[in-house]
Amino acid sequence: MLEANLMDKVVALCKRRGFIFQSSEIYGGLNGAWDYGPLGAELKRNVKEAWWQAVVHQRNDVVGLDAAILMHPRTWEASGHVGNFADMLVECKKCNKRLRQDLLIKGKCPQCGNTSFSEPRPFNLMLKTNIGAMEDSSSVAYLRPETAQGIFVNFANVLDATHRKLPFGIAQIGKSFRNEITPGNFTFRTREFEQMEIEYFCRPAEAGQWYQEWIKARHDWYLNLGMRTANLRLREHDKDELAHYAAGCTDIEYLFPFGWSELEGVANRGDYDLKQHAQFSGKELHYHDQMTQEKFYPHVIEPSGGCDRATLAFLVDAYHEEPVKDDTRVVMKFHPKLAPIKAAVLPLLKKNDGIVELAKKIKTGLQKDFFCVYDDTAAIGKLYRRQDEVGTALCITVDVQSLEDRQVTVRDRDTMQQERILLDRLDGYVKDKIKK
Ligand code: GAP
Repeated sequence: MLEANLMDKVVALCKRRGFIFQSSEIYGGLNGAWDYGPLGAELKRNVKEAWWQAVVHQRNDVVGLDAAILMHPRTWEASGHVGNFADMLVECKKCNKRLRQDLLIKGKCPQCGNTSFSEPRPFNLMLKTNIGAMEDSSSVAYLRPETAQGIFVNFANVLDATHRKLPFGIAQIGKSFRNEITPGNFTFRTREFEQMEIEYFCRPAEAGQWYQEWIKARHDWYLNLGMRTANLRLREHDKDELAHYAAGCTDIEYLFPFGWSELEGVANRGDYDLKQHAQFSGKELHYHDQMTQEKFYPHVIEPSGGCDRATLAFLVDAYHEEPVKDDTRVVMKFHPKLAPIKAAVLPLLKKNDGIVELAKKIKTGLQKDFFCVYDDTAAIGKLYRRQDEVGTALCITVDVQSLEDRQVTVRDRDTMQQERILLDRLDGYVKDKIKK
């Protein structure tokens, strides 16, 4: 169900509690760029860590890569980005606002309502820069518009270094840049963003099966991290939406407050990319099967997600308002793996030195494994609310009794249920709750 002001509430919470700030805000902001604050940086790291765990460490057939953002300009000729990576741009004849033609709503300018526009023209989305001391055409380079090409150009290097056999994949997380005509919807469409991409190389005859397996694996990843099933759907592209070389593409979409929108795409790209780079570089990029002595270009399945979009979807999905007594509790129900703060240690009486000392000691012990905080700046009810609002999985309260019975009260964020736990068991208890 769409809730119109849910987005406003999430944006306000992100600013208030230090998840996401406008870029260069003191100078009036920079359109299409956002900064992650202390809690946002933790959340985004957790999203990336969960992705890397799932697609690299917990599989036997994928290795990681961290390629440079700047690449040889020929890369972008081979990939087709120089020639084709464009949106159709129109200019409103009344207010001169430049807009993406496909995003006009009922043919109207969203700024002034006018309905007449200039002729549409292609606008290349790559951000140009110059490398070195000369600023001429020979020094032109691009900030990469996708991380994928860093993987394709390293295909032979990875193969030589790892002696992998098909099927295998290469995964990468990194920044990408696009000069979007109309960035918007908070961090959904930005000019600087991070991608999480896999190129999975397989035998041509097996591409259809791996395409289906990756769609399922990536859809399950969001569900396993607690995203609500009703807010996720798969959308298969129609034939006329596909690039000429692609055999299929399926988007994983999330029901954002502004409607169903793409989180990630899984594409069956055939052998287009390796062939293009082989042709443009003149290098041998075939896979050589040692058993059959066959040489061929592997086919590629590409699950390509946005880290910022996933983070935004997890923020929206986690937002809950719950009535409690005469009040409303705002609680971010992040999956424990994603929660920026795993546990908050709260002394019930900050004037009692014994309680404060024990609480700080507990925090020091837990922070070897988890990001934890200590807070004694308000009464316990207020401290709980503060932690709920940022999605802290557990609150650990130390009271006078704790000094005698060596037990603390652990409160679960979602159920608000409290349990007394022996200090000797606390570490294991927190680990179990966080790793579930
Ligand atoms: N290599 C394939 C590729 O880049 P894409 O659909 O253009 O495909 C993949 O991008 C993902 O990157 C998207 O599903 C989205 O999550 C993210 N993404 C793309 N453009 C973005 C933008 N301007 N702002 C934020 N995320 C973006």
